[in-house]
Amino acid sequence: MVRASDRQFALEQYRKRAGAYDLELAAFEPIRRMAIERLQLTPGDTVLDVGCGTGLSFGLLQRAIGSGGHIVGIEQCPEMLAKARARVAEQGWANVTLINSPIQQARITRKADAAIFHFTHDILRDEQAVRKVAQSLKPGARVVAAGLQWAPPWAWLTNTFVMAAALHSVTSLEGLGQPWSVLSQHIGEMDISTTLLGGVYIASAVVGP
Ligand SMILES: C[S@@+](CC[C@H](N)C(=O)[O-])C[C@H]1O[C@@H](n2cnc3c(N)ncnc32)[C@H](O)[C@@H]1O
Repeated sequence: MVRASDRQFALEQYRKRAGAYDLELAAFEPIRRMAIERLQLTPGDTVLDVGCGTGLSFGLLQRAIGSGGHIVGIEQCPEMLAKARARVAEQGWANVTLINSPIQQARITRKADAAIFHFTHDILRDEQAVRKVAQSLKPGARVVAAGLQWAPPWAWLTNTFVMAAALHSVTSLEGLGQPWSVLSQHIGEMDISTTLLGGVYIASAVVGP
């Protein structure tokens, strides 16, 4: 189960942010692009967008998987998911399944070729959530996670930004040193790179057989 207090806090955080969310995230679009490139998607792939928010990744994912592919977006905040639903309707995408649920309790009925965790720190720090995603992947699936991390201690200015951004978007600062560590325990060693003066990471891996 998701701890009720954290879940309520997170739901409230994103209920308030849903209206302006796309604008707030505009500066991070290059990170999204780099993360999605790491997935090496091909036409026909099924991809899980874990904590998909307003569906900002859907356009790039669609471009890579084509109409024969499938996106499964899982999102617990109804207001964020309503935006994702409106985006899907506006674009006329018929290959998107949206699940309004905490990922920990989501019913994912198809095995995926890829999964993306884009700025989803709370999800990445939750063992049950990560296990659920890992169990929903095919052997050889590609996984990418990207988000905030602590920069080295001397980069105090970067860390001031990381702290401010994290307080605005996560329920706990736990694990910001290595946000991918729980995921790595489940899917194996990850290739890590950092950007934005060390305050943002991109971690990717291919799931073993
Ligand atoms: C910072 S937003 C990122 C949204 C999207 N991935 C993006 O890149 O724009 C984090 C999202 O994760 C969602 N979330 C947090 N915990 C979740 C959980 N346990 N299950 C599903 N969604 C969750 C939040 O509601 C929020 O929409």
